[in-house]
Amino acid sequence: MSVQAVESKRAYSGYHVRDVPEDDWELAHTGPNTPLGEYFRKHWNPVALSSQVTELPVAVRIMGEDLVVFRDKSGNVGVLHRHCSHRGTSLEYGIPSERGIRCCYHGWLFDIDGRILETPGEPPDSKLKDSFVHGAYPALEYKGLIFTYLGPPDEKPDFPIYDVFELPDNKLVPYSTHTPCNWLQVHENGIDPVHAVFLHGRVGEQHFNEAWLEMPTLNFRQSDKGMYYVTARRLGDMIWVRSAEMVFPNFAQTGALWEYGDRGEKLFGRVSLSRWTVPEDDTSTWFFGWRHFNDIVDPEHLGDESLCGHDSVDFVGQTGGRGYDEGQRNPGDWEAQVSQRPIANHKMEHLGSSDVGVAMLRRLFGQAVEDKFVPRQFPGGRKADGGPIPTVSHDTVLYVPPKTDADDRELLAEVGERVLDAIESGHEVPSAERITHIEGLLREISEAPRD
Ligand code: FES
Ligand SMILES: [Fe+2]
Repeated sequence: MSVQAVESKRAYSGYHVRDVPEDDWELAHTGPNTPLGEYFRKHWNPVALSSQVTELPVAVRIMGEDLVVFRDKSGNVGVLHRHCSHRGTSLEYGIPSERGIRCCYHGWLFDIDGRILETPGEPPDSKLKDSFVHGAYPALEYKGLIFTYLGPPDEKPDFPIYDVFELPDNKLVPYSTHTPCNWLQVHENGIDPVHAVFLHGRVGEQHFNEAWLEMPTLNFRQSDKGMYYVTARRLGDMIWVRSAEMVFPNFAQTGALWEYGDRGEKLFGRVSLSRWTVPEDDTSTWFFGWRHFNDIVDPEHLGDESLCGHDSVDFVGQTGGRGYDEGQRNPGDWEAQVSQRPIANHKMEHLGSSDVGVAMLRRLFGQAVEDKFVPRQFPGGRKADGGPIPTVSHDTVLYVPPKTDADDRELLAEVGERVLDAIESGHEVPSAERITHIEGLLREISEAPRD
C-alpha cells in the first residue's frame, strides 16, 4: 500500500493527499478528432434558440468549433465557420442578405451551404469565389430550437422525433442554460437521483416539495437507446415510481419537477424537461431543450414559462446569474456541478452504491465510442409504423398500501420494476395502441378498487 493510501486513513491527512493527479479520462474531450467528439458529431445537436437568431447573427462555440448561426432575409438558417475565409473577420459582424450573409470587411457573400456567391472587391472575371467553399454545416429548425449536424456529410442521420414532442395539449417552451464546466459532470446529474434528495431538499432549501426528501429505491437499466433509472418512493398508501432516461449520446428527459407523489393516481405522466447536453468546449457546456407545460406534469401551474429562454429557466440553481452569496446559501445543480472542478477528476472520486448509475453511464459511453454499444437506430426519425420514438421518462403514482407481512422497500422496488416492464413492453405494440396498452398494465399493478 502506498504512503498516500496509508496516510489517507488517518485524521488530518491533508499534507499527504494534496496532489491532484492528472485526469487522463479521454471522454472528457469533445474537440475535433477526439473519440467522443467524433461520436457526438454523428448526431443532430441544438446550437441556439430560434428566438436568438433574428436580424443579427449569433456567435456560438460547439465542441471547440467557433461558428456563426444566422437567418438570411429569406428566412433560411445557416451555420457557418465563424471566421470569414477571405481574411478571418468574424461573421458575427456579417450582414444577413436576401440570400446568405455578407462579411462586413470586404463584402464577400456566403450562402447557407458555404458557397461563395460574391467577392465584390475582385475583378468581374475573377474565379476566386468558385475555387473553394467556406465551411458550413446543415441546419434545421424544430419547435423553436436550431439544430446542426457537425459530422461526416454522408453519415447524417434523420432527425429523431421522440414521443413527448408530439403529445396533445402540451406546450414546448425552448430554453437554454450555460454551465462553465465539463459536459459529463453536467450530463451525469440526470442519472443521479440521490442528489435530488439532498441538494434539492434535505441539505439546503427545499427546491421542489416534500416528496423529494424521501429516499427512493434505486435501480438502473440499460435500454435500447441508452439507459435509465427506476426509483420508487412510499407516500402513505401510494407508491410514486419515476424513471429518467439518457438517450445516447446526449439527450435526456426529466419527469415532473413538482411531483407530490400522493395526490391521486397518475399513469405514465410524462416529462417537464427534454434537453440535450451540448459541450461548448471541454470546460463549458450548454443545455438546450424545452420545458413542457401541461396540466398533467404541473397541475398547479407552479412553473413559469415567462422565465424560460436563453440562459434562463424557471427553477432555482440552474444558472450562474444569482450571485456567489446566494449560490452559497442555496446551492443548486449549477453550483454543485461547476464546483466539481472545470473537469471533474475521476481519480479523486470515491464512488458508492448510490453512484451505480453514474458508473454505468460512463461505461456505456466508453462502449458506444468503440461501437460496442450501438443504440437502436430509427430510419426516418420515427418507428417503422410512423409513430414517434418511444421513451420512458415519466412519473407513475399508484395506490399500493404497505403490506403488514412484507418488507416495504422490497415492495417498492418490485412495483418500480413492474411499472418499467409495462412501459418497455409498449415499445413493441403499434404506436396508436401504446398508451392504452401501458395504462392497462399499470392499472393491473395498482390495488385501487375499480368498477
Ligand atoms: S475578411 Fe471577410 S470579406 Fe474580407
Ligand atoms: Fe438536480
